[in-house]
Amino acid sequence: MLKSLFVFGVLGVLLIPAQCDRISVCVEDDNDLRVDCLIPPKPSQIANYEFSWSTGTKEYVINTNVSGSSAEKEFKNKSYVEELDPQGYRMILTGYTDTLHTTTYMCKMSGEVASISVEKEQVVQCSAMFLKSAGSWIVCLLLFFYQTHS
Ligand SMILES: *[C@@H]1O[C@H](CO)[C@@H](O)[C@H](O)[C@H]1NC(C)=O
Ligand SMILES: *[C@@H]1O[C@H](CO)[C@@H](O)[C@H](O)[C@H]1NC(C)=O
Repeated sequence: MLKSLFVFGVLGVLLIPAQCDRISVCVEDDNDLRVDCLIPPKPSQIANYEFSWSTGTKEYVINTNVSGSSAEKEFKNKSYVEELDPQGYRMILTGYTDTLHTTTYMCKMSGEVASISVEKEQVVQCSAMFLKSAGSWIVCLLLFFYQTHS
């Protein structure tokens, strides 16, 4: 018991902050940028999404269907959004070239914001992400069970 407590504790400290993120960013083989946003929907709120990034102080909207908000001209017709099962949205930006700055990627859903900062030229390949996220999914699940059963 004590031993498993210890193991979960270590796993939790190491993995929770980085791996149970509600936003993930990667590049597909054909150089499309993929941003997954996994904020749970709130039934009381209108469903909408907004994907953006910022380098420094200015925020650029890439794709949104928040009423009254619109994407920057340079991103018009270059991205699309699909719904993820069971929740969340995925935004694909075509013709992505790695930015020369550390970039903060953000998504907003139902009034909540998730963000992740990526160092320049450090965006991971989606093919590498899959294993990483499958692993973290198991860790998140284990921790969830551990927390609810103790
Ligand atoms: C935004 O798009 C989602 C998914 O297509 C849809 O369910 C939602 O109603 C849209 N929201 C607005 C404000 O148009
Ligand atoms: C985006 O596509 C629409 C419809 O296909 C077109 O009318 C519009 O001019 C396009 N915008 C840009 C910036 O290319």
